[in-house]
Amino acid sequence: MIKISKPNNLLLLSISLLLLFGCANQVGKLNILPVQEFKTNQPLIPEAILNLPSERMEEWNDWKFGLFIHWGPWSQTEIGAIWQIVKKDSPAERDQRFELYKTFNPTEFDADEWAQVAQDAGMRYVVFTTKHHDGFCNFETNQTNFKITNPECPYSGSTNPDITGEIVRAFREKDMAVGHYYSHIDWHHPQGKYFSQRHWDFDKTRVISHPMDWTKFADFEKEQLRELMTNYGPIDIVWFDIRWPYVSRDIDGIHHRINNPQVKEDMLEIVQMMRKINPEMIINDRGVHDWGNFATPEQKIPKVAPVGYWETNMTISDPNRRKSGGFWYKGPDALYKSRNELMQVMAEVFSKGGNFLLNVGPQPNGKIPQGEIDRLKEIGDWMKINGEAVYGSKRSPFTTIPDWGFITRMGQKLYLWVFDWPASGETLALPFDNPVTKAWLLDGGSSVKVIKNKGNATTLRLPEFAPDSVVSIIAVEVTGNLP
Ligand code: GLC
Repeated sequence: MIKISKPNNLLLLSISLLLLFGCANQVGKLNILPVQEFKTNQPLIPEAILNLPSERMEEWNDWKFGLFIHWGPWSQTEIGAIWQIVKKDSPAERDQRFELYKTFNPTEFDADEWAQVAQDAGMRYVVFTTKHHDGFCNFETNQTNFKITNPECPYSGSTNPDITGEIVRAFREKDMAVGHYYSHIDWHHPQGKYFSQRHWDFDKTRVISHPMDWTKFADFEKEQLRELMTNYGPIDIVWFDIRWPYVSRDIDGIHHRINNPQVKEDMLEIVQMMRKINPEMIINDRGVHDWGNFATPEQKIPKVAPVGYWETNMTISDPNRRKSGGFWYKGPDALYKSRNELMQVMAEVFSKGGNFLLNVGPQPNGKIPQGEIDRLKEIGDWMKINGEAVYGSKRSPFTTIPDWGFITRMGQKLYLWVFDWPASGETLALPFDNPVTKAWLLDGGSSVKVIKNKGNATTLRLPEFAPDSVVSIIAVEVTGNLP
């Protein structure tokens, strides 16, 4: 239970006694959970909470491709990465970072334009940073003044300063699903900072040593999420980030997170509240114990296709290359992943049954950088021709990945994503024995010759030139059981 009623003396006395005598015991009773890795084929999400119908998750899984947007007052600076707010800087510089909203005035922000960019890319949903780790709210809230509608923020004077509301409206108008990203950690909140990793006042023991601080922060999050769930109509996805406080320990050489029961109870209450307002809401797995509906490998693809629902989130810019910005806007010279790199990721993710959430970092003036728009458009042009292999498709029935590319599936139809087109005179080997009744190119529809070799092996004779310079799709219809 989240309790924010004024503490009475008896309560304070009991808390003090607990602190004096109870801490060691309390720690002994905490649950111990090993840190999760994405390497096994065990279910990542053991149970979905509170009866979210599986059809709803299937619907989410069918959207396949979404736009992630990281944006806020910090986009204005050369730091170009929100983590720098609490890293390295001197205390005076840090304080200044929290003043950035006073110059945040994205006069060229146009949510309809963003939605158009996403639609042209073939995306079916959006997830936007309503509040990132700095605590600044890109939405109207009664819980703090650190928000876009604060008169001290110049953008508050614009016609529709509630950026979140504008995004929700514009994307919905284009029939896309909408999601709120919400950071559990909050470096600005007067109590939240104690529970927020990397903040200079972060204190792993604070939940136990100062329970009232915890209660105030938990209640703040609860009320903000109530606002986010009620003020924008039914939201499809809530995308939490980072975790709620835990004590971390090394036991027998293995790193463990030790969950605090109070924190767990508060989170459960929050999720239940949200689900009550919006029974169809889908939530990710971060900081919500076992109650998330999908897992979120970040900047990577699980080695083995995980059991259950999952989504890889990734930056369009390449954080490994100089000047490239990770999730953030990093100036006009940022370097972006090539269409080839991005399409290989997409193919592998879809062939393993995941969704793909691709991030852009808009500029401080409100425009998505042209380099990002161009890359998205290239993907979208490909999707217009080959989308059948993507939307509504399911994971490959086979565990081995062919050396020429990847496979997605729709019933008895398999889509072969051929990156490595056979050289002239060579054929494409199929990694299954099922009889192929028909094979054709998605681009243009021309049929592909099926060759039955001795034994059961089937190969395909493809046209000499691939229709697409990166990846072309061949659809094949097969009979017989698929694994
Ligand atoms: C990482 C970053 C965080 C970002 C998130 C998106 O956790 O640290 O700032 O929002 O990735 O997945």
